[in-house]
Parts: sequence; C-alpha cells; structure tokens
Amino acid sequence: MPNIAPRVHILGLGSIGSFIAHSLRSLPSPPPVTLLVHRKDLYQQYASKDWKINLQVGENGAPREQQGFDFELINGTRMPQFPIENLIVCVKAPATASALEPIKHRIGRNSTICFFQNGMGQIDRLNQHVFETPSTRPAYLFGILRHGVYLKSPTEAVLSGLNGCAEVGAVPSEASNPTPESSSILLNLLLQSPTLRCSKLDWADLLQVQLLKLATNCVLNPLTALLDVRNGEIKHNPAVVPLYRNLLKEISGVFERLPELRAVPHDPSRFSALSLETSMLDTVEKTAGNSSSMREDVLKGRATEIEYMNGWIVKRGEELGVQCPTNSLMAQLILAKGARNVSGV
Ligand SMILES: NC(=O)c1ccc[n+]([C@@H]2O[C@H](COP(=O)([O-])OP(=O)(O)OC[C@H]3O[C@@H](n4cnc5c(N)ncnc54)[C@H](OP(=O)(O)O)[C@@H]3O)[C@@H](O)[C@H]2O)c1
Repeated sequence: MPNIAPRVHILGLGSIGSFIAHSLRSLPSPPPVTLLVHRKDLYQQYASKDWKINLQVGENGAPREQQGFDFELINGTRMPQFPIENLIVCVKAPATASALEPIKHRIGRNSTICFFQNGMGQIDRLNQHVFETPSTRPAYLFGILRHGVYLKSPTEAVLSGLNGCAEVGAVPSEASNPTPESSSILLNLLLQSPTLRCSKLDWADLLQVQLLKLATNCVLNPLTALLDVRNGEIKHNPAVVPLYRNLLKEISGVFERLPELRAVPHDPSRFSALSLETSMLDTVEKTAGNSSSMREDVLKGRATEIEYMNGWIVKRGEELGVQCPTNSLMAQLILAKGARNVSGV
C-alpha cells in the first residue's frame, strides 16, 4: 500500500493560506490538503475555477496552477465530523477564536495547530475562550513569515519574490501535555517546501524573533496606516522620528520585564530601544515600496490587527507596571480610523 502522508487542513484562505496550500501541494510527495471554506460564495468561486489555485511569483510571473485540494464548507450542514490532526491557521489575528469555534470539537490533544500570523496574544485568547481545558488542548506551532503575498482574485495569489523565508517552532504547552505525533509531522512538511523556505527555531529563539518582528510591526503598521503612505516614507519623514522613538522606548521597557523572555537565555541588548530601531529601519529599507497590511486593512474598511500589536504592548505594560501612552494612542487612533470607515463618515 502507498504510504499516504497525513492530511493537513488549512483555515483562512486569504493570501497566506492560499500560498501555503499551494506550497504544500507542490511538494514531491504532497500530503492530502483540505481547505476549510467559511463562505459559500468563496466555495462556489473555487468550484468555478475547477478547485484549482494559482500562484505567480512577481507581478509579471507566469501562473503556476496547483490542484488536488479537498474542500469543506465549514458551518455547512454536511460538514464532516472526523478529527483534525494537522491544522494551519492563516486568518488575521482578531478572527482566530471565532474561526476555530465551528471546528473546535474536531480538535483535541492529538492535534497540532500551526499559526501563521502577525501579532501576539492570539493563543492566550484562544485558550481563554475556545480551548479552555489545558489537558485537552492541541499542541501549538507558530510561524513567522517574511514573505509578501497578495491575492489578485480568490484563487490567484501573487508572491512578491522567491527570497522570502519563514521561521517556525513549537510553543511550550502550559499543561506540559505530551507532544502529539502530529507536531513533528506538520513541522516536517513545512520544512520541506522550497517555496516557503521555513527554518525551525526552538522556543527561545522563536520568541525573540516574534518580539523583534512585533516591535517593527508596532511602528510600521499604525504609522503607515495613519499617514496613508508606503513603508519607505517612515524613513524619509523627519517628523515621524520622535514618534517612533517613543513607541520603541515603551516597547523596549515592556520587553525588558516580560517574564517569558526572562525565562529564556537571551542577549538583553537585542531589545534595547536603539537595537529595535535598527531592526525596524532595516525592514523599512527592505520593504520601502510595500503597502503595510494595516494600511490596506484601513483603506478597505477591514478589521486591523492593532489589538494584537500595540494593543498587546499596552496590555502587557499594564500587567508589568510599564506606562505605554504612545502605543495606547496609536491603538486608539487606528481603532477610531476603523470605526470612521465602518460608519462611512
Ligand atoms: N500577506 C502577507 O504578505 C503577510 C506577510 C506576513 C504576515 N502576514 C500575516 O499573516 C496572516 C494572514 O494574512 P493574509 O494576508 O493571508 O490575510 P487575508 O488575506 O485577509 O486572509 C485572511 C483570510 O481569513 C478568512 N477568514 C476571516 N474570518 C474567517 C473565519 N471566521 N473562518 C475562516 N476564515 C476566515 C478571510 O476571509 P474573508 O475574505 O471572508 O475576510 C481571509 O480569506 C495575518 O496575521 C498577516 O498579518 C501576512
């Protein structure tokens, strides 16, 4: 009998979900991949394209067609009930708990969920509201993406180039549950893809990379959204410098006191305000022509990930006795801008 790789389910079929789905089905021995579709119109769009996904590299790249996906309409009346062992979640951070709610009964301690998202705090919220019982919780992996992807249409993704990469690793379990076999299966699949270019990090390194990326996101995302500019403008507008320095000073103060960071070996100078600024400016340089996801979300009237970026800094600051007035103001301004778009004023 052929050795069939375990099935991977993907939830959140936007830019990143489509890219990961395409990458996994492009492996020499691809696993079965089920796409969990939450909207009937999206399901019909896949049907109209013969259940295929295209990925092109660069604006003018040739579309690479991929097929062989299975589809499930979640919330549909005929939704299968069998367990989900390997799940990749690519919804935006605020949608995490609500997206998992309809399938939570299919996820248990033998399951592994790998999140490919920006921001921090979504796992805590998931544990509080969806997987409340520590002993029956799934194992978690977290992936940090350094790819740029957008959708030309629901079934056509554009990857900015082949030089992106990703880091992925296991998040420690609060309940010290034994690691299910699905964790290494999912991790190994992700590590095989030449397009995803994932490398594996242990928790100490993954946490530090997450925090560094968060600090950059806490500057770039709200400022580009509020000023309605591309990333590069942050470096060229001198009036923005005191603002981002205040943001990073507060962020560095919070990082310094984080118990989870103190619990792992690290070099504290990596998280100084100056070091965070160097890392942020490096990203600005490399992504100068990009329009940030928060700017795009605000322009399109969609919910932003602000509460999982500056909002998370403010929340952790409150817990740890670090005042974060500039981050709080950024979060409030983005929320106000979003509310203004929704009301159409
Ligand atoms: N795109 C990039 O280049 C990039 C790079 C690095 C990191 N990231 C991060 O990766 C994550 C995903 O980003 P993305 O660009 O792929 O976002 P996206 O294009 O907005 O995709 C999110 C998808 O989730 C779907 N969704 C929303 N609610 C859902 C629910 N309840 N159940 C199932 N699906 C649901 C959305 O559907 P609707 O259309 O119905 O809303 C959408 O298709 C974000 O955290 C982002 O910050 C993205």
